[in-house]
Amino acid sequence: MSVSTMHTDDVRELLHKVAGFDQAEGQERVKQILHRVMHDLFQIVEDFDVTPEELWRAVYYVGELGQSGEAALVAPGLGIDRYLDIRMDAEDEQAGRDGGTPRTIEGPLYVAGAPLKDGYDRMDDGTDTQAETMILSGQVTDENGQPLPGAVVDIWHADSKGAYSYFDPSQSDYNLRRRIRTDSDGRYKVRSIIPSGYGCPPDGPTQKLLSLVGRHGQRPAHIHFFISRPGYKHLTTQINLSDDDYTYDDFAFATRGELVRDAVRIDDPETIRANGLEVPYKEVRFDVQLVATEDESLQTRHERPRAQEETNS
Ligand code: DHB
Ligand code: FE
Repeated sequence: MSVSTMHTDDVRELLHKVAGFDQAEGQERVKQILHRVMHDLFQIVEDFDVTPEELWRAVYYVGELGQSGEAALVAPGLGIDRYLDIRMDAEDEQAGRDGGTPRTIEGPLYVAGAPLKDGYDRMDDGTDTQAETMILSGQVTDENGQPLPGAVVDIWHADSKGAYSYFDPSQSDYNLRRRIRTDSDGRYKVRSIIPSGYGCPPDGPTQKLLSLVGRHGQRPAHIHFFISRPGYKHLTTQINLSDDDYTYDDFAFATRGELVRDAVRIDDPETIRANGLEVPYKEVRFDVQLVATEDESLQTRHERPRAQEETNS
């Protein structure tokens, strides 16, 4: 049975009170947005003739999502992170500060405060014996190719099971998380392990919703970066490795063609020895171009709740 009530005085008054429009207290912006959200939700109920059973299932889903701690995990799957990137790209273009290495999503698994080293460090604690060794390196420059010494390259990635330290308490503190300050030539280098792709918890509410629309919850093998230096736009990005089934089928919509990199196997004994290693490894190169800006608010990452990071809000 389909009825139309959205334009009745009853619904209009209800929404007015729900949003606190009849109250002197509260914040006007929150009132405006809450009013729109609830109006549009009620409109959906009307347009799709959503049943009480369906609506209550959705309400309890929100509770389940909160209890599971997966709210920030489902967000990328719903395109929220990618949508914000599209907006920021458009803002940059409009302001004439586009260019440089493209941004892509941060994801929910960053941990602030990783060890900070000059030029080089090893990121893995040596316990992941199944993993292939990775040598990851690159140069940070400005848009004209001028090297940028003293830039901080903050790198984090998953282990060979697709799990991130801190969120996976079986890993050591800051395993696979490092900050490297670029050397006098703008270069950074780390020894680590080749990460595996990541999958949403299979029994959690994120995968439950994705399955209802016929989607998987997999990400290709990827490596996250924050790159910052005073005088330049902060860059949040990642690289996706090229030989993964999900390289171009990422549930979090983070893959961008310019950010796909090969992991090249190095077998040559001399090169292996020159890198202080004994066994073949895979080499990944990622050079980064930063865009100059005098606007200090663009030189640091935007605020959001992050593990081990103090926020003011
Ligand atoms: C998610 C996980 C990631 O490792 C990532 O980079 C992006 C999103 C997620 O679970 O939503
Ligand atoms: Fe990730």
